[in-house]
Amino acid sequence: MAIIFHEKGREFHLFNKEVSYLMRIMENGQMEHLYYGRGLRDKEEFGYLHEEMQRSLMAVCMPEPSVLSMQYTRQEYPSYGTGDYRSPAFTIIQENGSRIVNFTYVSHEIFGGKKSLAPLPATYTEKEEEAQTLEITLHDDVIDTDMVLSYTIYEDYPVITRNVRFVHRGGGKIVLDRALSMSMEFMDMDYELVHLAGAWARERYVKTRKLEMGIQAVQNLSGTGSSGEHNPFIALKRPHTTENQGEVYGFSFVYSGNFLAQVEVSPFDMTRVMMGIHPEGFAWELKQGESFQTPETVMVYSNRGLNGMSQAYHRLYRTRLIRGKWRDQARPILLNNWEATYFDFDEEKLLEIAKRAKEAGVELFVLDDGWFGKRNDDYSSLGDWYVNLKKLPGGISGLSAKIEALEMKFGLWVELEMVNEDSDLYRAHPDWIIGAPGRFQSHGRHQYVLDFSRKEVVDCVYEMIARVIRESSISYIKWDMNRYMSEPYSRGAEAGEQGKVMHRYILGVYDLYTRLTEEFPDILFESCASGGARFDPGMLYFAPQTWTSDDTDAGERMKIQYGTSFVYPLVSMGCHVSAVPNHQLQRMTPLETRGNVACFGAFGYELDLNLLSGREMEVVKRQIAFVKKYRELIQIEGDFYRLRSPFEGNDTAWLVVSRDRTQAVAGFYQRLNKTNASWLRLQLQGLEEDMLYEVSCDVTPVSIYDEERAGLDGNGQEKEQVKKYRAYGAELMYAGIPVDRRDLDRKGGDFASLIYTITKCI
Ligand code: DGJ
Repeated sequence: MAIIFHEKGREFHLFNKEVSYLMRIMENGQMEHLYYGRGLRDKEEFGYLHEEMQRSLMAVCMPEPSVLSMQYTRQEYPSYGTGDYRSPAFTIIQENGSRIVNFTYVSHEIFGGKKSLAPLPATYTEKEEEAQTLEITLHDDVIDTDMVLSYTIYEDYPVITRNVRFVHRGGGKIVLDRALSMSMEFMDMDYELVHLAGAWARERYVKTRKLEMGIQAVQNLSGTGSSGEHNPFIALKRPHTTENQGEVYGFSFVYSGNFLAQVEVSPFDMTRVMMGIHPEGFAWELKQGESFQTPETVMVYSNRGLNGMSQAYHRLYRTRLIRGKWRDQARPILLNNWEATYFDFDEEKLLEIAKRAKEAGVELFVLDDGWFGKRNDDYSSLGDWYVNLKKLPGGISGLSAKIEALEMKFGLWVELEMVNEDSDLYRAHPDWIIGAPGRFQSHGRHQYVLDFSRKEVVDCVYEMIARVIRESSISYIKWDMNRYMSEPYSRGAEAGEQGKVMHRYILGVYDLYTRLTEEFPDILFESCASGGARFDPGMLYFAPQTWTSDDTDAGERMKIQYGTSFVYPLVSMGCHVSAVPNHQLQRMTPLETRGNVACFGAFGYELDLNLLSGREMEVVKRQIAFVKKYRELIQIEGDFYRLRSPFEGNDTAWLVVSRDRTQAVAGFYQRLNKTNASWLRLQLQGLEEDMLYEVSCDVTPVSIYDEERAGLDGNGQEKEQVKKYRAYGAELMYAGIPVDRRDLDRKGGDFASLIYTITKCI
């Protein structure tokens, strides 16, 4: 890996074994993008990649005879009004109303490692040798302002990160009206845009569309979260690129608030990609000496298809974004009481559930919503973070002690950014909510958004919740957030500061996370937002796992987890087995399949195990034993491969392979069953061709544990059965595993699944 500045052509080359990124200082002092993609051999000059010619209607930005025009130039960080009629990366409104700027190269610095962007989340290095950073400083003389373009390239990942910092040195008034984190230009438009779109209970569905001339974008304006509608991620792939082959460029935004991810194709087939804080509602005045730091964009280049891109994100985010004690640890198996009791619980009921969970082998008991204030439904008490002694006479400290006496850890749910009108906090501070004076105040789930752009609000919430944690024995916190922002306005900010409110809100969330994670470093945090409405890299920096979706149906989860895996590592996905009929869909799925889907994530249960039959309890115990055996591989050690897409057919399949290739676990899932169906082969990946493996698959019929189905298997095979055989890696990858449809019948037909373990023979 290296970052080299070639003096002669005034070019920068960032490269490692897999990628190259080239740019140069143009004759007008601005930065031109030359190339980004597969690694190139470094050499003294790449200037021939600059293209320019006289065209009609163009604005030339230098004295004649130059024909340099920004309209036809691939720029690193374009500004408004230069004769380039595409969207700019930034806009600065000046005291005289002008938006015209001219930032030109002043200096650059190359150093080992990577700077922290705190209080913003960002990827990091542990040693200087892991990465190199280039900071290019450009300056606008008229407004006396610096713009620092920052690039980091990692040694071991096909990753380049980018961010921008503005520093206002002059005395005049300037307002950043738009300040994206990056802009990049591709040479042509022969790409497809891949993004993750959805809504509550169907988050992060994979969407792919061909680029067209003009603007295509995904965005979020929800204020409180990165949103379940559009994830802060896009990729550009070549039309022929598959999961395993071909080029793809990923862009992932390390931020939890409003964002814009935009692709603009010019009539000359130039493709400009931009990503950053959404300009709508954003306006940031910089006084003399003040600076503004944009969040980070993480760019991944893969020539090994979408899977290659995802594996790079997984490794980077698992090891260089997630932090703290839990970064390298497999996660405890938890039971959460939400779908078991909702608000209807008392200590006795919780302990009954916890005891049964302990019997099954669960390690962490999580108490969800309803333990505080006088909350028995979702109409009251958010903001009153003190225990409801009617429900829990011994308080959280008493309950947590009793759970620990059962030799389980204790976890607690909170929703710290919200307040109900019916709460002591709201009665004391009605002006602490986000909302515009004199306007109707929209509500959602009977609650308002607390104004976390104000420090005193964050201070107060911190004190309340830290007291509960200090008094009790808490090992895990689920941090929920159940509504988006509306009427964004802060009663704590001056008129000229209102454009800062939404960004400051997210900084307030990060501030509270920072205080709590620093004071309680051993606690495992799980972020949540009505399920998966805030599944983003910004959150992962503070909370190493996220509740993936409120939809716990196994069939739906296949899609949601599949889509989420485009960017996020399995260990970051909270995945639970819940009851049937499923509470969101009324769907029946086999208990085994619910476990077989959830085990490819941070595993847990979300039901009252007391309601299961003795036979079902045996299945639960087997699931827990399986997760304990394989969670290190699935969550920490392995590489994930998507094999069959639930968005493209009846079957879903995926696989995790250990880095030394000696062990793998594959999951195969079908939606509807078929009679007299075709043969089916599942081709694995990532194995060692010449390594001999033992393949093992439990094909015990479900009728063995499901009383209603008992006797359904006419073959008299209602006993435990495991199929085993030996095969070389090449066979498993190229000939494939024959998936026996009769096994899927035995596993319950519709929504049946099979797990294959593949282990090197000794
Ligand atoms: C939404 C979450 O996604 C659920 O898991 C649960 O915690 C509820 N909120 C509680 O109100």
